[in-house]
Amino acid sequence: MDANATTPLLPEVFEAMRPFYLEHYGNASSIHQQGQQARSAVDRARESVAGLLHCRPAEIVFTSGGTESDNLALFGVLSPGDHLITSTIEHHAVLHAAQSLEARGVEVTFLPVTPQGIVEPTALLAALKPNTRLVSIMYANNETGVIQPIDALAGIAHAGGALFHTDAVQAAGKLALDVSHHGFLKEVDLLTLSGHKVHAPKGIGVLYVRRSVQLSPMFHGGSHERQRRAGTENVPGIVGLGKAAELASGWLQSDGPTRLAALRNRLEQSLLAQIEETGVNGAGVPRVVNTTNIYFDHVEAEALLIALDLKGLSVSGGSACQSGASEPSHVLTAMGLSAARARASIRFSLSKLTTEAEIDEALLLIPEAVAHLRKLSPVHSKKGIAVSA
Ligand SMILES: Cc1ncc(COP(=O)(O)O)c(C=O)c1O
Repeated sequence: MDANATTPLLPEVFEAMRPFYLEHYGNASSIHQQGQQARSAVDRARESVAGLLHCRPAEIVFTSGGTESDNLALFGVLSPGDHLITSTIEHHAVLHAAQSLEARGVEVTFLPVTPQGIVEPTALLAALKPNTRLVSIMYANNETGVIQPIDALAGIAHAGGALFHTDAVQAAGKLALDVSHHGFLKEVDLLTLSGHKVHAPKGIGVLYVRRSVQLSPMFHGGSHERQRRAGTENVPGIVGLGKAAELASGWLQSDGPTRLAALRNRLEQSLLAQIEETGVNGAGVPRVVNTTNIYFDHVEAEALLIALDLKGLSVSGGSACQSGASEPSHVLTAMGLSAARARASIRFSLSKLTTEAEIDEALLLIPEAVAHLRKLSPVHSKKGIAVSA
């Protein structure tokens, strides 16, 4: 139950990739037949990803993953003297890129969020300046699943003369992503995707760049990706991402999202009903269907994570990229949680492969582990709070 950290390759994705490792291993820039086979596979994958986003294939730039795409969006657009607006709950791929740009003379505003984890459009409006060149706000948060009002935010950015980037790594495969004139994302200029969150391999990602946007490359070399990202294409990875995009489009149109929401809701509601002093971080606002972030007061999330891991259940405290760090999650603290409550919070993130039986098993393991840890907690035993497990 840690699909927001990564997802397994789907067998169909692996099968689509295999020939491009073993037989059709050509360089997509070579003019011989081997090269042209690789080139047409890259072109087909580009069309599949464009289909997922409802954009033109030429607007897709393949990168090495979400981190590179986020960096390319920010570094590719901003120059010293420009103003960037982002939020305090972004993934480190955006936050740390913004801090690095700040050190190079870009002015940066980090917008706060509401206690539910929402960036308020009025806050963005108030932060705009004449030199605001880019606004970067994530679509769905990786820790809480909270969905931002991207259409309103992007509209405000455009009205203020700025470009709009969204990190859609955690929205992909869970929400429709439509950047066309009719879509919810019609005012988005730049959008980040990562392969390994949608059952494609690690090390492949996409930056969608609207045709009108001038982007400076970060890497200098060959003229790959229409001079927006130099480097020999990762053909098997690109093919895998193309296949995963096709499968994600089909799944989004099926009853899959409804089924996944039902599984997540059952997990969440049963945990809240069975265990006292718990609650959902980001409750009451739209969230992606696979994620729930729950605090278990008087329990150290790290201890719970280890206890569950020993029973074969993988979950995350804060975000996986931070594990090992003792700082409480920057997302939860930005939402106003105390450090203690943030450290008592666990993220459960399901995937389209999650089964009813796995939810049943988790519902046995989690209350038991929480009860055990609370018995050991001095605060808790003093208060004598009961746990029904
Ligand atoms: C919201 C978000 N953005 C960016 C990334 C980074 O993507 P990648 O692992 O492909 O570099 C992640 C990965 O956890 C993420 O959740």
